[in-house]
Amino acid sequence: MIESEIERRWWKEAVVYQIYPRSFNDTDGDGVGDLPGIVEKVDYLDDLGIDVVWLNPVYESPNADNGYDVSDYRAIMDEFGGMADWEELLDELHERDMRLIMDLVVNHTSDEHEWFVRSREDDPEYGEFYWWREGVDSGGVEWTSEEGPDGEAPPNGWQSIFGGPAWAYDETREAWYLHLFDRKQPDLHWRNPAVREAIYEMMEWWLEKGIDGFRLDAIAHLGKEEGLPTDLDEPMNGTMKHAGNDPRVHEYLTEMNERVLSRELLTVGEVGTSTVPDEDAHAYLDHERDGLSMLVHFEHVNIDREDSIYEPGEWTLPELKSVLDRWDGLTEEEGWVAQYLSNHDQPRQVSRFGSETYRRESAKLLGTLLHTLRGTPFVYQGEELGMTNYPWTSLSEFEDVATRNPVERAIERGDVESFEEVREAVAAESRDNGRTPVQWTDGENAGFTDGEPWIGINPDKETVNAAAAREDPDSVWHYYRELISLRSDDEVGDLIVYGEYEQLTPEHESLWIYTRTFEGERLLVALNFSDGRTTIDLPTNAVDAGATADLLLANYAIEGAVTAVGDLADLVLRPWEARVYHVDAE
Ligand code: NOJ
Repeated sequence: MIESEIERRWWKEAVVYQIYPRSFNDTDGDGVGDLPGIVEKVDYLDDLGIDVVWLNPVYESPNADNGYDVSDYRAIMDEFGGMADWEELLDELHERDMRLIMDLVVNHTSDEHEWFVRSREDDPEYGEFYWWREGVDSGGVEWTSEEGPDGEAPPNGWQSIFGGPAWAYDETREAWYLHLFDRKQPDLHWRNPAVREAIYEMMEWWLEKGIDGFRLDAIAHLGKEEGLPTDLDEPMNGTMKHAGNDPRVHEYLTEMNERVLSRELLTVGEVGTSTVPDEDAHAYLDHERDGLSMLVHFEHVNIDREDSIYEPGEWTLPELKSVLDRWDGLTEEEGWVAQYLSNHDQPRQVSRFGSETYRRESAKLLGTLLHTLRGTPFVYQGEELGMTNYPWTSLSEFEDVATRNPVERAIERGDVESFEEVREAVAAESRDNGRTPVQWTDGENAGFTDGEPWIGINPDKETVNAAAAREDPDSVWHYYRELISLRSDDEVGDLIVYGEYEQLTPEHESLWIYTRTFEGERLLVALNFSDGRTTIDLPTNAVDAGATADLLLANYAIEGAVTAVGDLADLVLRPWEARVYHVDAE
């Protein structure tokens, strides 16, 4: 790739750090993280080298889905503080040249949002703000929901993404409303121009406050099919097909782009891949049209997912490689992706894709992967410490609706006898793994709160915590710091951000070797995804065997930092060993 072909953008060169405020740092002792708690840690983020903070929702919310059920877009949730705290956070970040992006949750609101309260009363202004429909005659179809008038079934059989019917009956309006997520999250009716207007105004309000962009939640679901099919047996994937990715979504995004997004913002669209097939991904990746800088897709984090959270899943390295390789291909000409393996909706990456036995090594290896693939790395809070999954023992320890709902329903239905029967799978897959508090110290409650934490704290805080990590030069934290700094390095920065990616070992079960190439410079990355030793198997024609390979970074101590590429073949990599070489490719 030559210089003139690359499209330089600040957000491609940035590293994003995701903060889940509930679990970040609590300053008032109520057991819930807050905005002053984030302000307290701004220097921590700066020391790590972060460029952008993405804040999960902090708006007023009854918290049915931890803030993804917004009851007032222009107010801050009491538990998190007030608007003055938010403004202070923005100032502190900007003062250190860090930027802030907000979570934009506009597929749905809370049922406690004023719009919904008025909509259920059929207020002339808000009556059509949501998807209201009449029920249908259940006509002998066995309908399991107990709500709604006798003999009446919901408009169709769509299932909510969190389990159970996607329709709830409202006694006040005497009609059914659509909720693709929890019943306390009614879907906004995007076909109504008044809804769109209200959203753009709200976005403009935040932009005027000085934010640097948005992460757009569940964005493909804004477009829903015409005439809602009325098949009561419509299965879950049918729901996803009809209630997402309708071409209208691009009309809305284009309009949103023209109205509010067309400035130098970072806009990250969250696009579930069961909703958006490959051939449609391009439409979302067209930055000029839809205004999205990059996509967060789910395909790689779905490779070990079965239909429900209580079915154990498996993944293989060739599968992971093939998904991420395909996305690199999809974005080769146009578009950009967020590179991540964990967030607040996913288990901890070390426990899932790495190895708890080789926690430190595998945490560093996974970080190496995310920071040397093409795309913008997203670091999820605690990832830089190598945090692991929580040792869950009972269903009551979970807080997440998307964990509890399906398991409780499966027990009710008799599909599952008890939590114990499915404990292992649920414990491995629950989103709550990513939501246990950041471990700052080995002290009480890991230094997260002086009160009673809202969710369990991982007992491994004794060894896995920020204070210990910062003192130990060999920690995951220091390694992340180095990885992050490479992105703005004079010598290799462009190569890491813009270099073309080439996979060298697509089928190998435990090795992932790839190159990144930019203007005669090349990176060679070798990763051993296993608890055992693996011999490097380098295709002879892949890189010039005589070229000099300069060790840039490694997660084990290595003697002899400079070698010839040819000497790397037959080299034995230790468990979860990661090496990054800078090769002179001329
Ligand atoms: C995706 C968010 O990341 C998740 O946490 C939330 O539950 C759903 N969207 C619904 O807003």
